[in-house]
Amino acid sequence: MIHSLKENVRLNNGTEIPGLGLGVFQIPDEDTAEVVKNGIINGYRLIDTAQIYGNETGTGLGIKEGLAATGLSREELFVTSKVWNNHLTYEETMKAFEETLDRLSLDYLDLYLIHWPGNNAFKESWQAMEELYEAGKIRAIGVSNFEIHHLEDLLSYAKVVPVINQVELHPKLSQQALRDFCEKHNIKVQAWSPLMQGKLLTEPAIVEIAEKHQKTPPQVILRWDIQQDILLVVKSVHEQRMQSNVAVFDFELDDTDMSRLNKLNESLRSGPDPETFDF
Ligand SMILES: NC(=O)c1ccc[n+]([C@@H]2O[C@H](COP(=O)([O-])OP(=O)(O)OC[C@H]3O[C@@H](n4cnc5c(N)ncnc54)[C@H](OP(=O)(O)O)[C@@H]3O)[C@@H](O)[C@H]2O)c1
Repeated sequence: MIHSLKENVRLNNGTEIPGLGLGVFQIPDEDTAEVVKNGIINGYRLIDTAQIYGNETGTGLGIKEGLAATGLSREELFVTSKVWNNHLTYEETMKAFEETLDRLSLDYLDLYLIHWPGNNAFKESWQAMEELYEAGKIRAIGVSNFEIHHLEDLLSYAKVVPVINQVELHPKLSQQALRDFCEKHNIKVQAWSPLMQGKLLTEPAIVEIAEKHQKTPPQVILRWDIQQDILLVVKSVHEQRMQSNVAVFDFELDDTDMSRLNKLNESLRSGPDPETFDF
């Protein structure tokens, strides 16, 4: 379990990743620099973007401004991006990666993910990512939205085991079987939409637990992840929420709270189902 925002977690290739990061999904490119800069100023050290978000340029600018404002070095930040579904051939993945680096104005990425398994045609993409990893252009490579059978397929030929599977995960979608599989294969699970895009914040059990600890519903949900060693990327454009979402290391959910939260699982998604999502 991570004990502070500054604490890192070790991935299967030895790379260290911050346990909790800032996501920038659905933020317009022109607004992203300010959000990313504020995130860095407020202690976030992991920034999660993607080719498809259309805001890698703003993310890169925000990184530059955030580093200038804090005096941090590039090496103290962890930057993730993802290759989109329509770039899953070897050549297209190579090209998409170079374009991502250009837009971000960076010379390496910390983590590059295959965004969705699509129609299972990710073999070439993974081979390209392995080459980029071996060439030192990416510190770690991983996947996103992979179900167990996608991972089994990938592991049957991969030379490099993915470090992370980033998936939708929150109390309504606890993904226990997938988490068990990932743990067995030394692949860390990272939760996206941990707040179910804000839809979980009025859930009565969560509100009651928050009142009991004098915390907010988002803090309870994020703490539920942390106590289970689940890595996180959470998004807010508001500085006050950014601060509150990382103020989760000064309280502990007890067994009764954890068991109440665990009972909320309905295998309910707010985003697409990886089994059917492909375009
Ligand atoms: N790999 C994938 O396929 C995938 C898919 C989706 C997301 N992601 C990543 O995961 C990140 C997080 O997921 P997400 O953005 O979908 O959803 P999320 O983090 O679960 O929720 C974000 C929503 O909750 C609101 N919010 C955040 N903190 C709050 C607080 N303290 N109080 C009240 N409302 C709060 C935000 O509003 P404001 O911004 O207005 O504060 C926003 O509407 C993304 O940004 C992205 O980086 C990855």
